[in-house]
Amino acid sequence: MKDIYEPAADLIANAHIDAAGYKEKYAASVADPEAFWAEEAKRLDWIKAPTKIKNTTFAYPDVSIKWFEDGELNVAANCIDRHLETRPDQTAIIWEPDDPQEDAQHITYRDLHANVCRMANVLKDLGVGKGDRVILYMPMIPQAAYAMLACARIGAIHSVVFAGFSSDALANRINGSQAKVVITSDGAPRGGKATNLKDNVNQALLHCDDSVQCLVVKRTGQQIAWRSENDIWLHEAEASVADTCAPEPMNAEDPLFILYTSGSTGMPKGVVHTTGGYLLYAAMTHQYTFDYHDGDVFWCTADVGWVTGHSYIVYGPLANGATTVMFEGVPTWPDASRFWQVCEKHKVTQFYTAPTAIRALMGKGAKWVEGSDLSSVRILGTVGEPINPEAWTWYNDVVGKGKCPIVDTWWQTETGGHLITPLPGAIPTKPGSATVPFFGVQPEVLDAATGEIQTQTEAEGVLVIKDSWPGQMRTVWGDHNRFVKTYFADYKGYYFSGDGCRRDADGYYWITGRVDDVINVSGHRMGTAEVESALVAHSAVSEAAVVGFPHEIKGQGIYCYVTLMDGREPSDELRAELQNHVRAEIGPIAKPDVIQWAPGLPKTRSGKIMRRILRKIAENDYGALGDTSTLADPSVVDDLIANRADG
Ligand code: WT7
Repeated sequence: MKDIYEPAADLIANAHIDAAGYKEKYAASVADPEAFWAEEAKRLDWIKAPTKIKNTTFAYPDVSIKWFEDGELNVAANCIDRHLETRPDQTAIIWEPDDPQEDAQHITYRDLHANVCRMANVLKDLGVGKGDRVILYMPMIPQAAYAMLACARIGAIHSVVFAGFSSDALANRINGSQAKVVITSDGAPRGGKATNLKDNVNQALLHCDDSVQCLVVKRTGQQIAWRSENDIWLHEAEASVADTCAPEPMNAEDPLFILYTSGSTGMPKGVVHTTGGYLLYAAMTHQYTFDYHDGDVFWCTADVGWVTGHSYIVYGPLANGATTVMFEGVPTWPDASRFWQVCEKHKVTQFYTAPTAIRALMGKGAKWVEGSDLSSVRILGTVGEPINPEAWTWYNDVVGKGKCPIVDTWWQTETGGHLITPLPGAIPTKPGSATVPFFGVQPEVLDAATGEIQTQTEAEGVLVIKDSWPGQMRTVWGDHNRFVKTYFADYKGYYFSGDGCRRDADGYYWITGRVDDVINVSGHRMGTAEVESALVAHSAVSEAAVVGFPHEIKGQGIYCYVTLMDGREPSDELRAELQNHVRAEIGPIAKPDVIQWAPGLPKTRSGKIMRRILRKIAENDYGALGDTSTLADPSVVDDLIANRADG
């Protein structure tokens, strides 16, 4: 395995940015952020161009982040209308359905405009206006993108809830954002099976205000239960609306969307992104990280329920007038060649996916790749968790045939777009490293315990960012204090990512994973506290502690220590019941891999659970349990080791 991979000469020659260009532009971006971002802001169409560029402070507790604060623009106009003059008949979205037998759709910018305007008019008819919240709970169909853009067009704030989340999780988000409307579909086909999304919405709405309306897209035509006159078919509502709708002028700092994400404590928080800075950052990173050129076909395999889908299926590509692929299916159905068949069929030039998918496909063998013509593919990308060098090398050799640079993009729901990533024509890559910062991003490594800044190049510690970038989240919906506490209280003056990292002698960053109580399961972020609270909500459970453990395909699996109520006996039936209970409370991605019965949990004398020890036991690494002398009852550790469950 090589340590470092240089981009090919022809790729460098055609790239937006080469090595010298990166150095120069990066230096300019940190030397004078005001001037740099004022210039970059010109890539958007402003109704009123901003004169105030950056007004940000990370000073605790007065954290405040504003970009382009006197500018006005509309996101949908930037993603659609401005392309109508230059590329009305270019395909904006290629939609590839779950079933390869069903026809793909090519939606032009002109079609996109009409569809988005119609949906915007329907939303207006339902009483949705500027600042109102709309929940999207949808399959990967074009209407999901239309709905996002329709909200943006009228100034409503969307919150997409991943369709794999349970009705309880959905209800929490509807209530948390006080949404007026939920947009969903009858069914959601994935991997040849259809989930009844409308049923889940009906369940959720039992716990919500009666006034919440539900707009339903017909996708499968399956039988669904109608609730009341507050349920509306989209196609019926659209029959009587115009296909034009004037975009609402929005302030750059008006919220564009809320996206709920897990943290180390409490319930998921609503990450708020705003209009100007977010769009600019999504567009710019999309262009440079993927070296996107006119005529390319860009495919990000994420779901729009995650930030990756927001920034790199919808907003970034469409702001750039790109052709973006939207895929409804899964990598392994009808068989493990599906991704590569889609690449061949649509002549994909950039392919962006997650390490968990790469590992799963690697496990099926190279023969599933070899049957497809991947000669159109120029750039490969990965996101969501650290990629192990074996998977990186397989991706490079088998998928990329050694000719496609791999961009390992480190970022977060909170960051809006890539913060640390190679640029394909500029930065040699190393398997497993996200490499170097994007323009305007100033990472630092701090000593985790003392918070001291590590000034030498080679360093290890926690990853923080020194100054704001335009795509940064602005607040937690309804709880600014939680925003300040979560990201700015631990290391004063910095944005704290929650990740650990190492910086090597070349200044390359290697993300080592979360240092907080967040685990990363198949690239999906989960708070251990959420799984714990789902477990203790079961009548048999008195106490639970949840940690991550290494998992071959998923990256991390979910390992639960469960103490039962007096009088309840451990059994395989109860174990399965608890697994299904968590699945029902949160969603299939949260189903525990391992449940170990724990008569007691290792606690300090003050009652704090020592997760460090639980992690080590779950990892099967007892040699390094560390100091257990502060435990109230050290013998519980021996019991947990003796009765360790097999993952
Ligand atoms: C966490 C953020 C950003 C979209 C997907 C996940 C981990 C993300 C990488 C990477 C190593 C990564 C981090 C981060 N992560 N990308 N390239 N290398 N780790 O977004 O759900 O907000 O999760 O995912 O731990 O903090 P998210």
